[in-house]
Amino acid sequence: PSETGIDGWLRYAALPDELASRHPQYSTIISLADDQCSPVFTAARELQLGLSKILSQNVTLETKLLVSAASSYIVIGTVKTFLSAGRDEYENLPLKDDGYCLVCKDGKATEIIGQNDRGALYGAFEFLRFLSRNQLLPEMRISNPSAPIRWVNQWDNLDGSIERGYAGPSIFFADGYVLDDLTRVQQYARLLASVGLNGLIVNNVNSNYNLLNPINMQGLTRIADIMRPWGVRIGVSLYFDTPKGLGGLRTSDPLDPDVIAWWGYITSELYRHVPDMLGYLIKANSEGQPGPLTYGRTLADGANMFARALQPHGDGVVMYRAFVYNHHLDESDWKNDRANAAVEYFDGLDTQFEDNVIVQIKYGPIDFQIREPPSPLLAHLRKTPIILELQVTQEYLGQQDHVVYLPPLWKTIFNFDLHVDGQQSLVRDIVSGQRFNWSRSGYAAVVNVGNDPTWLGSHLAMANLYAYGLCTWDPQQSEEDIIQGWAQLTFGLDKTIVDTITNISMASWPTYEDYSGNLGIQTLCDIVTHCHYGPCPASQDGNGWGQWTRADAHSIGMDRTVATGTGNAGQYPQVVAEQFECIDTTPDELLLWFHHVPYTHRLKSGKTVIQHFYDAHYAGALVAQTFPQQWEALRGLIDDDRFNHVAFRLRYQAGHALVWRDSINNFYYAKCEIKDERNRVGNH
Ligand code: GCU
Repeated sequence: PSETGIDGWLRYAALPDELASRHPQYSTIISLADDQCSPVFTAARELQLGLSKILSQNVTLETKLLVSAASSYIVIGTVKTFLSAGRDEYENLPLKDDGYCLVCKDGKATEIIGQNDRGALYGAFEFLRFLSRNQLLPEMRISNPSAPIRWVNQWDNLDGSIERGYAGPSIFFADGYVLDDLTRVQQYARLLASVGLNGLIVNNVNSNYNLLNPINMQGLTRIADIMRPWGVRIGVSLYFDTPKGLGGLRTSDPLDPDVIAWWGYITSELYRHVPDMLGYLIKANSEGQPGPLTYGRTLADGANMFARALQPHGDGVVMYRAFVYNHHLDESDWKNDRANAAVEYFDGLDTQFEDNVIVQIKYGPIDFQIREPPSPLLAHLRKTPIILELQVTQEYLGQQDHVVYLPPLWKTIFNFDLHVDGQQSLVRDIVSGQRFNWSRSGYAAVVNVGNDPTWLGSHLAMANLYAYGLCTWDPQQSEEDIIQGWAQLTFGLDKTIVDTITNISMASWPTYEDYSGNLGIQTLCDIVTHCHYGPCPASQDGNGWGQWTRADAHSIGMDRTVATGTGNAGQYPQVVAEQFECIDTTPDELLLWFHHVPYTHRLKSGKTVIQHFYDAHYAGALVAQTFPQQWEALRGLIDDDRFNHVAFRLRYQAGHALVWRDSINNFYYAKCEIKDERNRVGNH
């Protein structure tokens, strides 16, 4: 059969008869909510769909708890509705917001108890995952999310284009307006809900203020109404200068009373259209855009203006992005460093923000590179909660034409111990709110699905969206388990399928690092044309963007030490700062991020930097050659459409990896004229 990918990992492929017959014959699904817009009701319908597809069982849906003890039924509701139905045993379940409990009675009846509506929905999807993977449910399973904020950011523009989107036009907008047909938005909400994601910012950070015109406000209502039954709330990005541009005011100064009143009015209008709006995502004073600094005010003044506008209406938050930097930096000044910008801009503001301001911080100090240390700003805020910003869209990582399974990269950040105030401070514990007792913090990922049936432009890339949901729910879950589960749900239970996809995926990030940028030098792609694709090491230097490598004929890398460099190492807490200050204690994979060394510098492995470059590029390109061959094993085991679609991309990647290998190696060979010990480079 042909598969488009629209259902992603929610295909609910039928279990073979011999496996299906081992599961109970369900008689009824009972939803303890009868409101058809409630996520509990959505969950009940999803269970009905899942049972019909996975087990070929047509099960009725009821809204009253009238079942005979003899039959196999599924009851779904919240703790509250179970208690009202007399089920006192669920009174003290250790559940957090959005958490759930699955109870399996005698291997037959199942009860799904959500701490809230969304929790019930997440429990239902977990039940269906067990079923699809032909796994037995434990007698009781309690699951809570690591953090309350598990959101996605769309970079969709009103004209229907998507910044850094690689899968066709927007599913939200076209020609300046919200689309009439929002079918894909509903399908997207279902995918998000299935992995516990509960919020979405609908438009690009640099957005056009026409989002706020009356027709688009009604469009926002329609988007919110479609996503709400899936437990996904929406928020919007605002453009700082909207009072001037749309409101006709003479200024957008955040302390100006007219500006404050104007945002107050807009905010009331937005809440009238979307009563449960999440809040505002703000990118200000970044990459030449306006913000509070434009008007001589502080970043906190800007954030607080929006925060106060939101406060009368509910629990809305300002997601204030820390991606603030000057993109006209002078490279001739050895002390200049874009990586220092976030801490320089935000230090001293920790106590200045309103309670509903959350600072949204990219995982690394520069910009979604193949390897970065965690942003030092993650160690600077104690009172102001944070959102950790990740990218599912593979902007610098092959733009979905290359398979790069991201959880192993994310784990380097989640598991990093920042040693704040001399105490263990894993990034995941800071983000969850545990380390500094924040009640609202968590994760956002730039996702950028488009209207291509594959959503992201590549079937394999969808593993990253699935994994993003699972990682934000539980950042300690093994990345290998996640990909195995995803492969089963998406392609089938056959061991060859699962092993092949797991092998390719687990090898993919180190492989891409090997043939793009090694030792912390960043992804050496094209910076100057802003496409951020394909090898172009020459473009890193000689511009104001600050993603520099400082490569010359003799040496390479950014000196970020306090002693002789930009001082960036010193922005980390002492234990970490000391580690990065010194070449001997800096791990090889971040050597060139923190140090400027001769190409002949010897790594801990004993190799020189330049020989490591040469070898890694050959090794990475070689592994990429194996991907299409490995994929061949799936021919006939999965549908031809998806087989061919992936096969084509893997062949392309194998070829492009050679282009990467030779471009990078020849570039550095030409610069330093140091021969490859194995005599491969420069001989083409
Ligand atoms: C990167 C990206 C831009 C984007 C920016 C951001 O610089 O290339 O397209 O606008 O990040 O995160 O705001």
